[in-house]
Amino acid sequence: ETPVGHTGKPLLTKESKPVKIAIVGIGNVGATTAYALLLSGLAADIVLIDVNEKKAQGEAMDLNHAVPFSHPTKIWAGHYSDCEGAAIVIIAAGINQKPGQSRMDLLKLNFGIFKSIIPEIVRYASDSILLIATNPVDVLTYASWKLSGFPTNRVIGSGTALDTARFRYLLGQYYEVDPQSVHADIIGEHGETELPVWSLASIAGMRLEDYCREAGKDFDSKGMLQCFHTTKNAARDIIQLKGMTDYGVAAALVRIVETILRDENTLLTVSTVGPHAGVDDVCLSIPTKVNRGGANHVLKVMLNSEEQKALLKSAESVKAAMDTLNF
Ligand code: 2OP
Repeated sequence: ETPVGHTGKPLLTKESKPVKIAIVGIGNVGATTAYALLLSGLAADIVLIDVNEKKAQGEAMDLNHAVPFSHPTKIWAGHYSDCEGAAIVIIAAGINQKPGQSRMDLLKLNFGIFKSIIPEIVRYASDSILLIATNPVDVLTYASWKLSGFPTNRVIGSGTALDTARFRYLLGQYYEVDPQSVHADIIGEHGETELPVWSLASIAGMRLEDYCREAGKDFDSKGMLQCFHTTKNAARDIIQLKGMTDYGVAAALVRIVETILRDENTLLTVSTVGPHAGVDDVCLSIPTKVNRGGANHVLKVMLNSEEQKALLKSAESVKAAMDTLNF
């Protein structure tokens, strides 16, 4: 007899298979994500796919030597056909910004790449969840949705999950509390028009305004506003220093994978098709419940009027870029 859990559903079914994750695009972000995913132990099978097969093979070989220090995991370089059976396909293919470039500058080239890879993924993994990391991530999440024909819940962009992490880290430093105890989100475009939701930010359930009093700091102080500016400029600054960014986004991707696979219902600022609070037919990030079904529910966050205006502006900016694409 099949053992059942407390919900009455079988714990293991005939369909239960070891978890396979495919990663398409094995540059810095793809390889670092594979490494973080291996160390997490969440996947039994990780297939690496890249046009540069040698690069994928080299990364797979190197990663295999970390297996004895982590979890038994099959990591190998494969082809699109190896996406078959993947629960999640992470897409990190494409070029990244050079110093001085914006994320939007990458659109034309990366959209061209997506036009060729999405149909291949769909062909072999039509039940999978697509997790997009390539920039400009919002526009390419929208493109992936269009090109795949998948339902909206199964197309997720890493969006501002990374900016939210940067923001919480910096606020944590500023207030001297664990970033995990800081609830503050960056929403909108992962890029120039993103915005902080100060009105809903809280620490220990206290509105930031009240927590500032507790911490002996001024609300609206320079230091506090600086946390947002540093967040917004983080990618630019890191790219100036090391040429690209990878650890932050890789950790964000693994966190998204985790909440999907473990059905955790975590609220994350990921990029989805929506519908969002008052903004339709565009991808951007708003706190969204993520679980085994993917991006299952975009919250109707109660923004103040200034934030709502800024969100609309952000949506317009992403839409303008989307309108330049032809499918
Ligand atoms: C980042 O924010 C470049 O989007 C990338 O790190």
